[in-house]
Amino acid sequence: MDPTTSVQPTSMPRIGDKAPAFKAVTTQGETNFPEQFAGSWVILFSHPADFTPVCTSEFMTFATLEPKFTEANCKLVGLSIDGLYSHIAWLRTIKEKIEYKGMKNVEVTFPLIEDITMEIAKAYGMIQPGESSTKAVRAVFVIDPKGIIRTIIYYPLSLGRNFDELYRVIVALQTADQFKIATPADWRPGDDVIVPTAGSCGVAKERMENKEAMHCYDWFFCTKKLDKETVMKAVTGK
Ligand code: BEZ
Repeated sequence: MDPTTSVQPTSMPRIGDKAPAFKAVTTQGETNFPEQFAGSWVILFSHPADFTPVCTSEFMTFATLEPKFTEANCKLVGLSIDGLYSHIAWLRTIKEKIEYKGMKNVEVTFPLIEDITMEIAKAYGMIQPGESSTKAVRAVFVIDPKGIIRTIIYYPLSLGRNFDELYRVIVALQTADQFKIATPADWRPGDDVIVPTAGSCGVAKERMENKEAMHCYDWFFCTKKLDKETVMKAVTGK
C-alpha cells in the first residue's frame, strides 16, 4: 500500500463517511480506491484467508452472481491479509479444481487486494481481535458512486454471506435514492415502498384523507405502489 494515502492505522468507518482512500496491489493490477470506481457502486468485502472452505464457497458464489451486480452498476472488490501470489494460486485452484453446488470452472475476474501489512483491513475495521487478530472478518462495505459508505455489514469467520441479500441491498439503496422513498422489512422489488413521514399536520391530514395515492396504516406510516419493472429499469436500465 502507498504510504502517502490517507488511511489511518486503525479506525472504524461509519455509514455516511467517505470511504478511506488507498492504493494497493490486486489480482487485476494496481487500484486507486475508491477514486478508480467513481461513478459506480462498489462492494468492498474482506474474507479471512485464501484456501479456506467458507471463503471458497463465497468467492464461487459471488463470481457467479457478478454479472447481476455489473448490470446494477456495481463493482466487486475483495480483500484478505494474504499476498498476491497466494491470491493468484487460490483463484487458479478454484477455476481448475473446485466444483461446488453446480458451479464449476468459475473464474474470479473482480480484483482481490493483497493486504499483508493489514493497513487497509485496519482502516476499514476489518480486524476484530475478539474474532481474530491475524485474519479479517467477513466485512461488507457498500460504497456509492460518490465514494460514500452507504451500508456496512460484518459477519464472523464461520458464517458465509448471503449474496442475494447483498444484491437486494444494492437494489434497495438505488431505489431509495432514485424514488426518494424508504424500503420496509424484507422489501423486494415490486413490494410497496414507504413514503417519507409527513412533516406537517396538514400533510398528515391530507394523507389520511387521500386513500388513492397511498395506503396509510397511520399518519406516520404510509406506503405506495412501485412496480418491479419500474424499479429494475431504474437499477439496470432494462
Ligand atoms: C473458511 O473460510 O472456511 C474459514 C476461514 C477462517 C476461519 C474459519 C473458516
